[in-house]
Amino acid sequence: MNARPLTKDQYDSAVSLWTTTGLTRPWNDPMDELLRAMNGPTSTVLGYSLDGDLIATAMVGHDGHRGWVYYLAVAPDRQESGLGRLMMEACEQWLIERGAVKVQLMIRSDNSPVIGFYDQLGYELSDVQVRAKWLKAGDHAHTGSAAL
Ligand SMILES: CC(C)(COP(=O)(O)OP(=O)(O)OC[C@H]1O[C@@H](n2cnc3c(N)ncnc32)[C@H](O)[C@@H]1OP(=O)(O)O)[C@@H](O)C(=O)NCCC(=O)NCCS
Repeated sequence: MNARPLTKDQYDSAVSLWTTTGLTRPWNDPMDELLRAMNGPTSTVLGYSLDGDLIATAMVGHDGHRGWVYYLAVAPDRQESGLGRLMMEACEQWLIERGAVKVQLMIRSDNSPVIGFYDQLGYELSDVQVRAKWLKAGDHAHTGSAAL
């Protein structure tokens, strides 16, 4: 079976996978983010199921210039069996089919354990500084690199 866009009945499972794998943050509503990605014209969330269970996801989209990947997650008991690579390759293919020439992603600074994974997949460290600004006033009080 291949990675494919989530079906509506998988949305709750995706959010619970993101929670289990530590990808959610109190200041982001994961279901909101999932719905925006699923409903937008240039984004989706890919999922991989086994025996009816959603065991891997990745959100992928492009901004007309570059592709971005978020919420890459593999169920803890299924990690280290090639699924992370499979999901990233599916994202890359999704982007290639839409004309993107480059894909990038952000790794939270407290998530150093995954750096080796991206090294293994050929993702290089970019010599850039990512800056961000919240656009909704009073949304939260978080600053710094953890507030992605
Ligand atoms: C990161 C994650 C998606 C990797 O998924 P996975 O299914 O375990 O990875 P794979 O089995 O596909 O590994 C692919 C390759 O990377 C290597 N690899 C995996 N994790 C690694 C690590 N932490 N350090 C070094 N190498 C690693 C594997 O050995 C494998 O190498 P190979 O293809 O040469 O044999 C998974 O650990 C995860 O869901 N983590 C929690 C959520 C998260 O942090 N997501 C990323 C947010 S930026």
